Amino acid sequence: MNKIFSTMALALASALPTMAAREATVTLLPSEESPVIVKEIYGQFAEHLGTCIYGGLWVGEDSPIPNTNGYRNDVLNALKELHIPVLRWPGGCFADEYHWMDGIGPKENRPRMVNNNWGGTVEDNSFGTHDFFNLCEMLGCEPYLSGNVGSGTVEELAKWVEYITAEDGPMANLRKQNGREKPWHLKYLGVGNESWGCGGTFTPEYYANVYRRYQTYCRNFNGNHLYKIASGASDYDYNWTEVMMRDAGHHMNGLSLHYYTVLGWSGSKGSALNFNDEDYYWTLGKCLEVGDVVKRHCEIMDKYDPKKRVGLMVDEWGTWFDEEPGTVPGHLYQQNTLRDAMVAALSLNTFHTFTDRVKMTNIAQIANVLQAMVLTKDDQMVLTPTYYVFKMYVPHQDAKLIPLNVATPVIPARQNRTVPVVSATASQKDNVTTISLVNTDLNEQTTVTVNLSGIKAGKITGEILTADKMNAYNDFGQPENVTLKPFTKGWQVKGDKLTVTLPAKSIVTLSLR
Ligand code: AHR
Repeated sequence: MNKIFSTMALALASALPTMAAREATVTLLPSEESPVIVKEIYGQFAEHLGTCIYGGLWVGEDSPIPNTNGYRNDVLNALKELHIPVLRWPGGCFADEYHWMDGIGPKENRPRMVNNNWGGTVEDNSFGTHDFFNLCEMLGCEPYLSGNVGSGTVEELAKWVEYITAEDGPMANLRKQNGREKPWHLKYLGVGNESWGCGGTFTPEYYANVYRRYQTYCRNFNGNHLYKIASGASDYDYNWTEVMMRDAGHHMNGLSLHYYTVLGWSGSKGSALNFNDEDYYWTLGKCLEVGDVVKRHCEIMDKYDPKKRVGLMVDEWGTWFDEEPGTVPGHLYQQNTLRDAMVAALSLNTFHTFTDRVKMTNIAQIANVLQAMVLTKDDQMVLTPTYYVFKMYVPHQDAKLIPLNVATPVIPARQNRTVPVVSATASQKDNVTTISLVNTDLNEQTTVTVNLSGIKAGKITGEILTADKMNAYNDFGQPENVTLKPFTKGWQVKGDKLTVTLPAKSIVTLSLR
């Protein structure tokens, strides 16, 4: 624990002398030129998978669970607090088997369908296009549609765009018949999902051509302007990015990337709740590797697009563990602990440093699936530790990044990974400086000296997320184990230095005015 890990936002390197363990230094490097942390980095993802939509977001108007036009009130109210900028739907793998026309018109006439990707569950299509766009309006977020390329036709996707965005014509008339007079605004359109796998098992060369064809017919109606996103690589598949940029780069606005914090794609993924210290550090190390992976994809994109016109959209990320015992196989329901909160904070800190190329990220998923914000059971809801990180980080949305230099000890993890004891991010908006600090150490507190570099700290308020155990979680009947608490005593300012004592395994956000 006496090695020094030095990380830097925006290319500035420095060598720092060795320092005692459990002390770290964060130097703020404010700059007029630094970019804004685009709020879309805080995007969410809702798939027809398990109880994400049905039961999680949507219960239908006739449900005894309190709802507004079919949307759960408790979940809606909780999600509004997160200021969600963008919501991706209807998949994931589901998107490439979804036929949107089955989800419009009178609900009683809609055909049922088998969700082949996710447990073979039969659904009634009662949540469709109108319900999704209404939800986005209620949450005040941009919709991000994932179009069916794998099993759908060019015509089907073209007509979906027309149905949603045209003022006049046959599709607009159909929409009007179904109760929506005005077109909706649609910016983000995904042309397929995981086209190398569940979205069609294409080669990159073949998909690049298919992408070019599909996107041609997705038109801009009546002043609506589509931001077209091609299906991108998973993890370390740099060749996919290379071929897509080479063969289709000029026809896209964004290219996606999926990166999960997962043990592997076959066999056990480990328990979300029962894990040891080594597993904890391995998980954090694997999560942090997203920084290297994004960097390499960005380097390839830079080669073909040096002006950074095409955004890299990390439209699926988060932890993926074994499903909770006793839950429906294929529904990807997992619990969420303080370890997941750490993954959320470390990932967001990392994404902040790539905001010149990474234009959106979407954690998987918003409710009841993988690293969820909320978990529901009948009429009960709990907010997860991950939810609280997203809540705590709201001030970073659309704030100006403050580049920083972090000098911290590191903790070794399995498979030659290392985890910095301290991870940090900082930003500024409306004369408020927000600094988020993470102490990953399971047992020791860490004293962090923040060099303020002239930034005002006349008044400071803070919040902390921590718990007594690394696998503490919120559950039905005991929902308040891991929640945000005021952080009032752990800091002091002397001149241009702010000293913060971070308790073991904690995430702290300070607001400086
Ligand atoms: O988020 C769950 C699944 O993970 C998505 O449907 C798919 O795109 C990815 O493999």
